[in-house]
Amino acid sequence: MRILVSGATGLIGNALAPHLKKKGHEVLRLTRTAKRTGDIEWNPQAGQIDLSGAGKIDGVIHLAGENIADGRWTGRKKERILNSRKNGTRLLCDALAAMPEAPGVLISASGINYYGSSTGSDRLDEESPAGTGFLAKVCREWEQATAPAEQAGIRICHLRIGMVLTPEGGALKKMLPAFKLGLGGRIANGRQRTGWISIDDLIGIIDAALHEESWSGAINAVAREPASNREFTRQLARVLARPAVFPVPGLLVRILFGEMANDTVLADLPVYSRRLTELGYKLCHPELAGALNHLIGKERKGQGRKKKSRPPPNDFDA
Ligand SMILES: NC(=O)c1ccc[n+]([C@@H]2O[C@H](COP(=O)([O-])OP(=O)(O)OC[C@H]3O[C@@H](n4cnc5c(N)ncnc54)[C@H](OP(=O)(O)O)[C@@H]3O)[C@@H](O)[C@H]2O)c1
Repeated sequence: MRILVSGATGLIGNALAPHLKKKGHEVLRLTRTAKRTGDIEWNPQAGQIDLSGAGKIDGVIHLAGENIADGRWTGRKKERILNSRKNGTRLLCDALAAMPEAPGVLISASGINYYGSSTGSDRLDEESPAGTGFLAKVCREWEQATAPAEQAGIRICHLRIGMVLTPEGGALKKMLPAFKLGLGGRIANGRQRTGWISIDDLIGIIDAALHEESWSGAINAVAREPASNREFTRQLARVLARPAVFPVPGLLVRILFGEMANDTVLADLPVYSRRLTELGYKLCHPELAGALNHLIGKERKGQGRKKKSRPPPNDFDA
């Protein structure tokens, strides 16, 4: 397949592209700064995209968006978070719909924040309604922005991605230094839950969504059970063989990170994937302990020399 990937330079895209290439696909990167031959440049902020030279594209994986966790949420940062997704997605989908031969599938990233940060529910799945709060609004408008592609007959998967676990970046990379020094601890009372997914499983899910015609609509990309922050802390400390006895007060997190804290580290997101179960998708790392052992074990063994990464799962294909 010829696959167009936006945000291919980011955390998920960087892990995904080599996997796709290894499977024999051709990857075209849609990026704001073309660095390699074959990269296609776009400027979502200025509404500029030109796919006329791209040739036939079989599938699109849309990951681009302003990073949510790399700075305090000022008014301008929030605008960039929302507009890079809402306007960027619409721009891309208008361009896909206008192609002489539209791609067969668009896999568009979304997040489990779709459900809102504190619903009081013990179980959120794809049938749960959209929640309230800033990130819930972002996810809702991000998903709605794919409408032009849907109207053009493109199969759409909205992957509502949970916290992606990889030592290469994101939340886990941020936590590791303190935990390695034995300075880790739960955040607030540690009861807030989150849906999570190992990077290997996320890549496997994206791969399956590309190929399986029956996959469409909203799909929560999360492991079997959400984890409470307390449980996550316990498991991470266990894998690293370190104590984790320094709780971080919720008030401090709110002072440091402002509104972002309520929508992210303090949010209660007990998200399950009804759809992955119905579709019969088998995760490689359904349990947190196994996922962390695999990810951190890999990282620890890899210290000092570059280890070959384990191929992502394809149990589904099997
Ligand atoms: N990582 C997670 O835990 C997680 C969880 C849930 C959902 N998601 C979503 O999945 C997607 C990919 O995640 P990721 O962790 O790989 O993200 P990431 O590392 O922040 O990378 C996103 C990519 O988007 C592009 N980008 C950055 N700012 C942009 C802007 N203002 N306008 C347009 N494009 C911009 C960049 O690519 P170029 O510079 O090449 O244009 C960047 O490499 C994101 O939309 C994210 O919200 C991630």
